Amino acid sequence: MRQEELRQLLEDMSLEEKIGQMVQLSADFYKGDAKSVITGPAASLGVTGEDIRLAGSILGAYGAEELMEIQKNYMAEHPHHIPMLFMLDVIHGLKTVFPIPLAQGAAFEPELAQKCASAMTKEAAVSGLHVTFAPMADLVRDARWGRVMESTGEDPYLNGKYAAAMVRGIQGDDMSKPYKMSACIKHFAGYGAVEAGREYNNIEVNEHTFREFYLPAYEEGIRAGAGMVMTAFNPVNGIPATGNRRLMRDVLRGEMGFDGVLITDYGAILEMIAHGYAEDEKDAAHKAVEAGADIDMMTNAYAANLKQLVEEKKIDEALIDEAAFRILELKNKLGLFENPYKDADAKAQGQVRLCSEHRALAREAAQKTCVLLKNDGILPLDMSKKIAFIGPYTNNHEIHSTWAFTGDVKECVTIEAAAREVFDISRTTFHQGAPVVGSDVRLSGFASDTASGKVSAREQEAMLDEAVLAASKADLVVMPLGEHYLQSGEAASRAMIDLPEVQMALFRAVAEVNPNIVVVLFNGRPLDLREISEKSRAVLEVWLPGTEGGHAVVDVLTGAVNPSGKLTMSFPYCVGQEPMHYNEYATGRPYDRNERLCTRYTDVPNEPLYPFGYGLSYTNFDISPIRMSGSEVTEDAPLTAQVTVKNTGDCSGTEVVQLYIRDMTASVIRPVKELKGFQKIWLAPGEEKEVFFEIDEPMLRFVRSDGTWGSESGKFTLWIGSSSMTENGAQFELKL
Ligand code: BGC
Repeated sequence: MRQEELRQLLEDMSLEEKIGQMVQLSADFYKGDAKSVITGPAASLGVTGEDIRLAGSILGAYGAEELMEIQKNYMAEHPHHIPMLFMLDVIHGLKTVFPIPLAQGAAFEPELAQKCASAMTKEAAVSGLHVTFAPMADLVRDARWGRVMESTGEDPYLNGKYAAAMVRGIQGDDMSKPYKMSACIKHFAGYGAVEAGREYNNIEVNEHTFREFYLPAYEEGIRAGAGMVMTAFNPVNGIPATGNRRLMRDVLRGEMGFDGVLITDYGAILEMIAHGYAEDEKDAAHKAVEAGADIDMMTNAYAANLKQLVEEKKIDEALIDEAAFRILELKNKLGLFENPYKDADAKAQGQVRLCSEHRALAREAAQKTCVLLKNDGILPLDMSKKIAFIGPYTNNHEIHSTWAFTGDVKECVTIEAAAREVFDISRTTFHQGAPVVGSDVRLSGFASDTASGKVSAREQEAMLDEAVLAASKADLVVMPLGEHYLQSGEAASRAMIDLPEVQMALFRAVAEVNPNIVVVLFNGRPLDLREISEKSRAVLEVWLPGTEGGHAVVDVLTGAVNPSGKLTMSFPYCVGQEPMHYNEYATGRPYDRNERLCTRYTDVPNEPLYPFGYGLSYTNFDISPIRMSGSEVTEDAPLTAQVTVKNTGDCSGTEVVQLYIRDMTASVIRPVKELKGFQKIWLAPGEEKEVFFEIDEPMLRFVRSDGTWGSESGKFTLWIGSSSMTENGAQFELKL
């Protein structure tokens, strides 16, 4: 539809219709017998038949047949026959489930994330959806927060690359094209900083850190053209994000130039009452609309109050026009006025979802996201040995994550299933050993509560005995262990970031009889791995790898694939170090092992157990000292830093060569190291390659003491290496 037609449409709409566009309801209101819905659940929420008739979008359903039916009936009833938007959280896959975003970050390959996003979008689009609530661009530093699994980690540069890549994967260059949808950058802003890692908590982030660390990744996603942004649950500078005018109108729209649709997070408008920022529903609706929230997700505050607020002249109708028009524009960008069903296609669903191409991509992604944390040479496995697989993830299908609720766990390939395809079964055994969590652990997810205690004490004992016996007879033991998938995700903060106790007991019992242990870890967050790391010979982090997890893990264990993943969140030495991140600001008393009065713990090291950027390979890479093309950078003359990377081992492999920079003196204190670039290179045994990084003025910019972004003349150090701990450094100067 042309812009003039769209404007005309807006003019023709009644106030109620325009407000309707700003209302998002649950799909349940459109399913089944409308009359009983209106008198039942709708009545109890205060939703009227008119609200249902006019609501501009729904959340929580997918499937071509159902959504086409809803669209048809809805449009027939709507006064201007405007199509509705169908939204859902498709975070890392619809039916083909790719590794969780935290794992995808570890591949250090945004192009791969783009491909995965594109594949999941295709599955979602044929299933009738128009918008996915992804990507989450929140920077995270605290492993206690359950939602770290949905982020790509602690680095703003890397997160920005991923946010942009995912937006491109979801939207392409034109979201009206086949198999494309609108992305939604979330949660604006700072949700990843919830205090103490406790879900839905306040954040304490100063303006400088907020702008320098937290805002950039959202901005990258917005620059990539994201059609939507979602507000955060948390307050920013004391004002809940959803009602924060300065944040939304000045920063998001004014400074970042976002002109798409701003949706609140689930129920966030009414939460402003509990926050003590709004008196009642009407006040909350008033504050949210003034702040610029276009769509109210799942409260009835807009539907019930905006009309009255306009009539009482408390808000200007222009605010409603502005919001409704943006929503119409999004519908138009998706091409819904021409084709309200977009890609919904019942037949294509069967062909696209879980197709072999998507499964192959899921396998590749899961292989590339595995991070080898420790290996004394026991990996890859010697297949001539007697091997016992022992642990609750040996044959566990629940390896996709709480966010992949649309996936079917039965479709996940387990380690056992994959191992049976390649191992000699006459000398390989498989044992559960323990349940994932003990009966004392209560878990809850979106769908239901799970009391995990389905295994009786006696059964548990028998499992353990069988496992110990098998371990004692085997040459080596592979232990697939991990958190329960419901222990990470939304509302899954943990104060202790250990493996479940019942699994630690299994691990200890196995370690007593067989020291040759390879631990394979399934989890959605960094864990305290001290004991695991001390008592095992190898540790392979595989996260929640999704549909093809078992195949990918077995590919890596056997050496068919050489691991190349790198951590994008520090794995702490212990939970007391949290929140933890490598790019911390320099202190006035830097750590000095001979000095007592310096920044340090008295009982544990300052360093994490495994740092950002870290991950081993089955081969070794030698990175030469840095050669610089000169010693000065100016505004129009960049520098080149060069290293030679050589594969000194005896198998081919991939290394992520990382560039870090520190601004030595500035008008504000600067981080001790910041990732500024990376390159992934593949090398055959004995092969070497030159790797070049260009150092230019824009990459040296930061938030200066006056609050502006820019660079300052002075000395810099750069490092090029294989993790954030690299000491391979060189100096240069910026002259402006
Ligand atoms: C989450 C969002 C999500 C929304 C809709 C909220 O609870 O914070 O990330 O998109 O629900 O499901």
